[in-house]
Amino acid sequence: MGEKLSRVAIVGTGYVGASYAFAMVNQGIASELCLIDINREKAMGDVMDLNHGLPFAPSRTKIWLGDYSDCKEADIVVLTAGANQKRGETRLDLLNKNTKIFQSIVNQVMEAGFDGIFIVATNPVDVLSYVVWKVSRMPKEKVIGSGTILDTARFRFLLGEYFQVDPKNIHAYIIGEHGDSELPVWSSADVGVIPLCDYLKKKKGFQQCDLDDIFIHVRDAAYEIIEKKEATYYAIAMALVRLTKVILNDEHSILTVSTYLDGEYGHEDVFIGVPSIVSRQGIKQILEIELNDGEKSMFNRSVQILKEMAETLDL
Ligand code: LAC
Repeated sequence: MGEKLSRVAIVGTGYVGASYAFAMVNQGIASELCLIDINREKAMGDVMDLNHGLPFAPSRTKIWLGDYSDCKEADIVVLTAGANQKRGETRLDLLNKNTKIFQSIVNQVMEAGFDGIFIVATNPVDVLSYVVWKVSRMPKEKVIGSGTILDTARFRFLLGEYFQVDPKNIHAYIIGEHGDSELPVWSSADVGVIPLCDYLKKKKGFQQCDLDDIFIHVRDAAYEIIEKKEATYYAIAMALVRLTKVILNDEHSILTVSTYLDGEYGHEDVFIGVPSIVSRQGIKQILEIELNDGEKSMFNRSVQILKEMAETLDL
């Protein structure tokens, strides 16, 4: 029997969507990739440009310029459409603009008969994940925001540089809003299987401010990159590919995605970045990791900010 076909539809082929499509083709993750964008001319250009690279790709991906009817058979619809952060803008500044765009997109995707999993990437990703869940009326497990997957990757990269250890062996999470109120969970961070606090004792010349600086660089990374090159897209695209792969391959991996809290961490009715087990069915389980008092209060503040933003919306 032939391998099960996997179709991913990308709605929005701007910086992030096009980079995600490029990364998907280069990693050979899906058998079908359908690009949808209001600017069909540009999206067709991306389709042609990607197809011409197929001879160099690890496997064949059928790539075409599609429309919402193609979402009916999609396993995953990735939402990367909307305005992106400009210099001086916060992610939350984008909320009203992108909410209107999302209401229109999600209604059209659902009218096409989509019954797969939404991956949300557009910012503010946590509140827009809430919008997608509300508008689509999909089960909460099937709406997944990129959350703080990228922030956690940045955190692991910078800690890996600091300790000269492979980032894959740094187990440390950034949770909360994908934005200014996110927080590092230092209390449960490990280097290999050694608690970070013990590992630090061996680090010559260690100073607490080193770690504070690392977190500040993680939290403010997007602002720094946007200042230099207008937008961020490579790392977020690779984070989205990782999430897509985990879903399509039913990997049951733990990622700090933006997911709906229904009592976990003492909160409900909010999408926010927390470690979750992700499978082919979407969110399989939310992991309630132990937080110290300082982390709890930062997390609660992050929840509050996101809930207040969602309450301003007329959904
Ligand atoms: C960033 C964008 C994806 O953090 O919000 O780079």
